[in-house]
Amino acid sequence: MPLSIVILAAGQGKRMNSDLPKVLQPLAGRPLLAHVLQTAKSLDAAAIHVVYGHGGDRVRAALADESVNWVLQAEQLGTGHAVAQAMPAIPDGHDVLILYGDVPLVRAETLQRVAAHSSDSSIGLLTAVLRDPTGYGRIVRDGAGNVVRIVEHKDANTKERAINEVNTGLMAMPAAALRHWLAALRNDNAQGEYYLTDVILMAVREGRKIHAVVATSEDEVLGVNDKVQLAQLESAYRAQKATELMLNGVTIVDPARIDIRGEVTAGRDVFIDINVVLIGKVQLGDRVRIGPNCVLKDCRIDADTELHPNCVIDRATIGPRNSIGPFARVRPDSVLHEDVHIGNFVEVKKSEIGAGSKANHLTYLGDTVVGRKVNVGAGTVTCNYDGVNKFRTEIEDGAFIGSGTMLVAPVKIGTGATIGAGSTITKDAPPEKLTLARARQTTVEGWRRPAKKTEE
Ligand code: UD1
Ligand code: CA
Repeated sequence: MPLSIVILAAGQGKRMNSDLPKVLQPLAGRPLLAHVLQTAKSLDAAAIHVVYGHGGDRVRAALADESVNWVLQAEQLGTGHAVAQAMPAIPDGHDVLILYGDVPLVRAETLQRVAAHSSDSSIGLLTAVLRDPTGYGRIVRDGAGNVVRIVEHKDANTKERAINEVNTGLMAMPAAALRHWLAALRNDNAQGEYYLTDVILMAVREGRKIHAVVATSEDEVLGVNDKVQLAQLESAYRAQKATELMLNGVTIVDPARIDIRGEVTAGRDVFIDINVVLIGKVQLGDRVRIGPNCVLKDCRIDADTELHPNCVIDRATIGPRNSIGPFARVRPDSVLHEDVHIGNFVEVKKSEIGAGSKANHLTYLGDTVVGRKVNVGAGTVTCNYDGVNKFRTEIEDGAFIGSGTMLVAPVKIGTGATIGAGSTITKDAPPEKLTLARARQTTVEGWRRPAKKTEE
């Protein structure tokens, strides 16, 4: 049967104590709901319905590019009521898989196992065994071990509260049956809500079997209710990503001291030192080495390149065999070709740097095209901005820029040109020649340094 997925995301998340709706709280830099949606999309469903309510416009705006069916639940009357809002858009012939917008780390394989149990004779239900089940709905089983109902914590008696197996909230069943069970829900319970969990008892009464899929890890099913749990999930996510990288052969000096907030791919024998933060889409080639305290965001680093400590790389492409840093900053839209050296306190912005070129110390290259085998001396600055407009600098192959040079853009330095140290270059410099732009040095003969009078 075709699958319809319903993601419940209307809750307020009071305990977050935040103006941001709960499902938009960031985990690894992306809204919780975006994680759930990504997993949902990997399941090949006929449709994905997102039930929203609190912070509605912001939730929709944050995920405006997603092709989902938005379903408004104007008043939060319970999880059963929430699912009911989506039902008019779901045909009888579908299976319905229910997910929570605040349970972000559930794996696609687990959901597939749950969905596989949706049939005319059974329901799939994801459960978990927790050390501390406080607050969760408990799974009540009969003497033969069959699931017979779910009792909410607030409605449970002492004996039921001692049960460690809990309802994760995630379940799957045929749409037609779900529709008639939802219509029969009542809210005469401790919270005065229409509980989705009550459909389990109804299904059992109709002779259906509840297939409990017990989650293999706690992290996978943990929901987020406050910032403490958010931090716990962040660390679970981090650990999971670090483990994946290590199993793929990456050496991570200390997996507790790496932060991965996105999708990292790595070639063979990559080495990552401590306190490295990887954000967004990061691609690391074979044998890339990343020193301590580097921050890499949406970038590609090619084979055999080394980032020395304390580099910040943002939306840039760095070719093979580069040596970057320590203390280098490569900003968006920069492309470094092979064998480039960018040294300490060098900033590169929106620039292309050709093969074998070097800028080793204290330099700013902005809106610049640097050719091959160029040497940019210490303290060179491309003066690319007049306060309103940005201008480009071109430095052609083999040029040598002496230390302390100001290149006032727009300006072009020809092939093989040499610029004398301390020059302020405002006009194009011809190829293969020495160009200087600085006052001549003079020595004043007969000058005497003032001397203090010595007291008698
Ligand atoms: C629910 C389950 C409980 C389970 C727990 C797992 C019910 C009655 N209880 O309890 O058995 O152990 O989840 O975390 O289902 N939501 C809406 N509209 C509403 C109410 C909730 O969209 O009217 C959404 C929330 O945004 C959230 C999810 O449903 O994503 C769960 O709601 P929440 O209030 O957190 O349920 P719990 O009381 O924790
Ligand atoms: Ca909850």
